[in-house]
Amino acid sequence: MNHRDVPNVTRIVVHGESGPVLLLVHGFPLDGSMWDGQVDAMASRCRVIAPDLRGFGRLGPPPLGEATTMEQMADDLASLLDSLGISEPVVLAGLSMGGYVALAFCRKYPGRLAGLVLCDTRAAADSPETVKARHETARRVLAEGTGPLADGMIPRLFAAGSLDDRPELADAVRRMALRADRRGAAAALLGMARREDHTGLLSHIGCPTLLVVGSEDVITPPEEMRAMRDAIDGARLVEIPDAGHMSPMERPAAFNGAVGAFLAGL
Ligand code: MLT
Repeated sequence: MNHRDVPNVTRIVVHGESGPVLLLVHGFPLDGSMWDGQVDAMASRCRVIAPDLRGFGRLGPPPLGEATTMEQMADDLASLLDSLGISEPVVLAGLSMGGYVALAFCRKYPGRLAGLVLCDTRAAADSPETVKARHETARRVLAEGTGPLADGMIPRLFAAGSLDDRPELADAVRRMALRADRRGAAAALLGMARREDHTGLLSHIGCPTLLVVGSEDVITPPEEMRAMRDAIDGARLVEIPDAGHMSPMERPAAFNGAVGAFLAGL
């Protein structure tokens, strides 16, 4: 596995020698290691890139300001592809916050996409209540760090059965959250709070699109992702049984099978 340092993003994993580029974008407050169950498994059919976004992971540059917008993160991904000399259209997969970034990328750089995989995410903007809660959470993260944030999130991130079967998943999330820069996590919260509503974009997505959701996802539930599927021309939705919000970590074989079939059809 090849780890590289590239400006504006942190840990980069580039794995695989041939096939389409699959750029995997992590959720909040995680990092590229959430895709460890995908990187090796997918490398026989594509070139996998799993960066840490600005403010996350171990080596990342600090956030640029008080808020890191989804557009800034999308710009960072475009710079990453430029730095790696990748000008061909890529398959972009984003989970939750990574999905918000993927939609921002799709709006700004549609010509750079060969395919889109939206995982456990939503197109809608935050409600006023959620915006208020995010500001409060950002204040707490700045004061207390990301540990209490992770402990509060973990029960909602996974299907109950996943944590019973594999308690190490909670430890992995805790470790990722603790690696995040507290200013980076707070800035991403404020960036998510001010993100655009991308519902209207869905009917204009021009590349093949796959949606994936855990059947027990309580954060971005299957009903919401079914509505997104219905709005995107030709899109397919795969619901992963016995998985919650972290479907790629919880059920990697089912997740990788769905993405592999999508890549084979491009
Ligand atoms: C994530 O998993 O990235 C977050 O749950 C996204 C969010 O807070 O909206």
